[in-house]
Amino acid sequence: MQTKVLMVCLGNICRSPLAEGILKSKVDTLKVTVDSAGTGHWHIGNSPDPRSIAIAKDNGLDISKQRGRQFSVEDFDRFDYIFVMDNSNKKNVLELARTEADRNKVQLLLDVIFPNENVDVPDPYYGGNSGFKNVYNMIDEACDLLVTKLSL
Ligand code: 4NP
Repeated sequence: MQTKVLMVCLGNICRSPLAEGILKSKVDTLKVTVDSAGTGHWHIGNSPDPRSIAIAKDNGLDISKQRGRQFSVEDFDRFDYIFVMDNSNKKNVLELARTEADRNKVQLLLDVIFPNENVDVPDPYYGGNSGFKNVYNMIDEACDLLVTKLSL
């Protein structure tokens, strides 16, 4: 059985493409499907932000071929786990949930490191490169724990 994991942020150009690339690098992609999406529509079809591409490249990952897409209600049917980067993404995704089963799929990514503390992966879009490095390291640590906790 495939496990299907979706990473969600606002634009699907900064944080969730990193989360997709990082988790993919840590799992057997024949057994685990990893994808990402944004709650917003502004960057549909776009490449990841150059700053995300650069920090991924510094860490040996190529995320440049990903393209932005918007989260849709069908994603609740397609994925087993929906990891959101921050509390506003969580609110936006939960507004589309139809059932308790849909709602139960949605978790903050950093809950895996800081359970019940409501910690966000901060939006690095309006900051400098150090924000992207910080975000990369947080997501990397969270993905290491996900692989163990979910047996991915
Ligand atoms: P992301 O960052 O949600 O991590 O992809 C953002 C990207 C674009 C915008 C906001 C956040 N934007 O406003 O266009």
